[in-house]
Amino acid sequence: MPVVRRFQGAQRFLPVQRTLEALRDAAAHCHGCPLYKEATHVVFGEGPADARVVFVGEVPGDYEDRVGHPFVGPAGRVLDEALAAAGIDRKRVFMTNAVKHFKFTRRGKRRIHDKPSRYEVTACKPWLDAELELVEPEVVVALGATAGQALFGPSFRIEPSRGHELASPFAPHTFATLHPAAVLRAPDHAMREIMKQRLFDDIALAAACLRA
Ligand code: URA
Ligand code: SF4
Repeated sequence: MPVVRRFQGAQRFLPVQRTLEALRDAAAHCHGCPLYKEATHVVFGEGPADARVVFVGEVPGDYEDRVGHPFVGPAGRVLDEALAAAGIDRKRVFMTNAVKHFKFTRRGKRRIHDKPSRYEVTACKPWLDAELELVEPEVVVALGATAGQALFGPSFRIEPSRGHELASPFAPHTFATLHPAAVLRAPDHAMREIMKQRLFDDIALAAACLRA
């Protein structure tokens, strides 16, 4: 007997009508992988459909899951700082994640973020593809290894990929940088400052393409 997988990815939940609104509504009913079961909300990408730049994170965090919007918690504050320093207006950015439902482990009353598996990233990829197809940005910025792996495949690593432009089919200009949550998790103050500077420098590099 062939093995029947219960969860076959997001593809069959995508709507025929490809607008951001239709996609967002449909994603709320996605059962493409098991993550929808424990999460509170789907956290779909947000921003104008004609945004010139798309930022791709990993997966919504605890706060994002509660309110249903991407990058509105502590990592979002770091990202906001980097955007402001680079002269990018967040209102004109499309902000999304590789995986749209929060993944976590309960520890007492706390919900601790878990990294999505390769399988979950692949299952959720049709939503990201659809967002990128619709927005057609000039610049895509992958935040962290999971976003990079969603876009470039499982062997993607941040360090060799950051600090310069990458060739990709997703946009004329593609960059990858550290995840802002990685900056917050830095082991000490000195390392945090170094990582923050890298994030800021990479986002400034992406911003330069928007001004060109
Ligand atoms: N981390 C992410 O990757 N995405 C969010 O939306 C928030 C935190
Ligand atoms: Fe669907 Fe992605 Fe949520 Fe899994 S994480 S249920 S694939 S929207």
